[in-house]
Amino acid sequence: MRGLRNKSVIVTGAGSGIGRAIAIRLVEEGMTVGVLDINVDAATQTVETCKGLAGRTMVLECDITNYDEVVAKVDLFEQRVGGIHVLVNNAGWDQPIPFLETGPAFWDRVVSINLMGALNMHHVVLPRMVAQDGGKVVNIASDAARVGSTGEAVYSACKGGLVSFTKAVAREVARNGIRLNVVCPGPTETPLFQSFLGEGNYGARLYDGLKRAIPLRRLGRPEDIPGIVAFLASDDADYITGQVISVSGGLTMHG
Ligand SMILES: NC(=O)c1ccc[n+]([C@@H]2O[C@H](COP(=O)([O-])OP(=O)(O)OC[C@H]3O[C@@H](n4cnc5c(N)ncnc54)[C@H](O)[C@@H]3O)[C@@H](O)[C@H]2O)c1
Repeated sequence: MRGLRNKSVIVTGAGSGIGRAIAIRLVEEGMTVGVLDINVDAATQTVETCKGLAGRTMVLECDITNYDEVVAKVDLFEQRVGGIHVLVNNAGWDQPIPFLETGPAFWDRVVSINLMGALNMHHVVLPRMVAQDGGKVVNIASDAARVGSTGEAVYSACKGGLVSFTKAVAREVARNGIRLNVVCPGPTETPLFQSFLGEGNYGARLYDGLKRAIPLRRLGRPEDIPGIVAFLASDDADYITGQVISVSGGLTMHG
């Protein structure tokens, strides 16, 4: 991919699943990757996996819901690396519960991780991109943002919010040479998705049903996502901003 080598990127939630796969791919491309996660052991594991690849890594232990912590860790990364060219907002969390069985404490948790966390990251990183006259942001939302997802109402609201937020900010900072785009994974086999399926027959039936409903006849794998992220972060995507792309085996098809 053109224009990634020797550039720097922070990937949130890079200790597991899709975020780890994105981090590995961007290190393969020769980037310096800030492997940011609330779970430092998981982030360290990602860094171990990247040993011997073209680029470099740095563990950033950080809870994206804590604004001050985000400032401290972004400062640290910038001091060590000398700038931030790309931000990938990937960290997310949910538990499948019908909306009417949830309450404000649960909504707070879902909103603070999936929406407020991403706002914190944008608010801290974008001024640095403005100062250097350019940058790329790739936000990992979900097809839940586009078509809804049973048992994930508040999560869907957050991901839909992230899509709209991305488009609005993409308009605001286009003049500063900053591009923001969204990738929407469909059901993808990660620890988060396993917890969604749960144990037993119900999960197994849901899994088979999804597989049959997906035109490409399989669920997503974490490795299905990094290609589009690398493209959107690269020079080849310089004329693309405010766009939303699903990676879901054709489960959802949007005009
Ligand atoms: N797996 C799917 O089916 C699927 C589908 C659509 C969208 N997504 C989205 O893709 C992204 C990655 O999901 P995944 O399935 O790889 O999940 P995952 O649970 O495997 O990984 C998420 C990572 O985020 C980290 N994290 C959680 N809260 C954090 C916080 N407050 N601060 C910093 N790090 C935090 C976790 O420690 C974990 O390492 C999420 O945004 C998710 O909503 C996943």
